[in-house]
Amino acid sequence: MPPSLPAPADMQRALALLHAGQLVGLPTETVYGLAADGLNPFALRQIFAAKGRPVDHPLILHLGDAAWLPRFAEPDPRADALAEAFWPGPLTLVMRRLPGVPDEVTGGRETVALRVPAHPVARALLWAYGRPLAAPSANRFGRVSPTTAAHVREELPGVFVLDGGPSEVGVESTIVDLSGPVPALLRPGAVSAEAIAALIGPLGSSQTVAPGTLPGHYAPRTALRLSHSPDADAEAARAQGLTVAILRAGEPQDHARRLYAELRRLDAEGVDLLLAEPSADGALGAAINDRLTRAAYGAKEPR
Ligand code: TXA
Ligand code: MG
Repeated sequence: MPPSLPAPADMQRALALLHAGQLVGLPTETVYGLAADGLNPFALRQIFAAKGRPVDHPLILHLGDAAWLPRFAEPDPRADALAEAFWPGPLTLVMRRLPGVPDEVTGGRETVALRVPAHPVARALLWAYGRPLAAPSANRFGRVSPTTAAHVREELPGVFVLDGGPSEVGVESTIVDLSGPVPALLRPGAVSAEAIAALIGPLGSSQTVAPGTLPGHYAPRTALRLSHSPDADAEAARAQGLTVAILRAGEPQDHARRLYAELRRLDAEGVDLLLAEPSADGALGAAINDRLTRAAYGAKEPR
């Protein structure tokens, strides 16, 4: 199903908001972002205020094309190889930044995260705007990322959202850190560590943890547990008088695409316990299990 393109009037409105330093809900192929002019410190501060996000958590700068890269990051042949292979697409590169990148984007770090999204609406907006857009996932801090325009409107009422249909991938981009001599995987996503290593050599273990990928992120309100045998575990929990919902695995692409929507839906049902079946292996399986593990970490005991 091709993502729908918004009406020209909606694109004009989005551009006017960005020029005025305001926020726009942006569809990408991974999840929806909350976008602001990536070079305007006033606009960038609106992001942190709207999300309730600590200001030292750095943002991803979204570019219209890999050709924009030399304006923001020091040259790196590994980045060129990865950009050639995976951009536009669900891969974010952490690189040594150039001076023009605002501290509000990097949280004062010497590095900046960059990606060229593949969604046609995101690309059209970036090209029309002609400047990078900083965009975290459009959820309130610590909550599940939105994969539809309706999710964004629920999380952040009052924010204008460009509707690009449901996100194709469904989980956030892979993040690879190229700022040191040895590249490192900071967050698993649809682009696999193996595919990255095949182009730029083996990935080391990361010296930095991507701030904001703390355990306890992606948390639903309901208690959540990973379960390899959800039916048996559900039966046991029900025997103790708990109400239970099961989030089943399945083919990884489909599982990733519906993961956050189902977490939201099941969370709203108000059951005592969510049992989530881990995904099979592969890049998306690893990404799904990473998010589920974070969602389960420190999960409340069932009511
Ligand atoms: O798929 C995605 O990446 C989505 C869409 C909207 O592009 N964006 C997204 O943004 O997931 P956010 O802010 O929710 O997650 C970005 C992650 C955060 O964990 C942040 O700490 C990390 O990227 N990050 C950003 N800049 C960094 C830097 N300079 N060094 C290390 N980690 C960085
Ligand atoms: Mg996020």
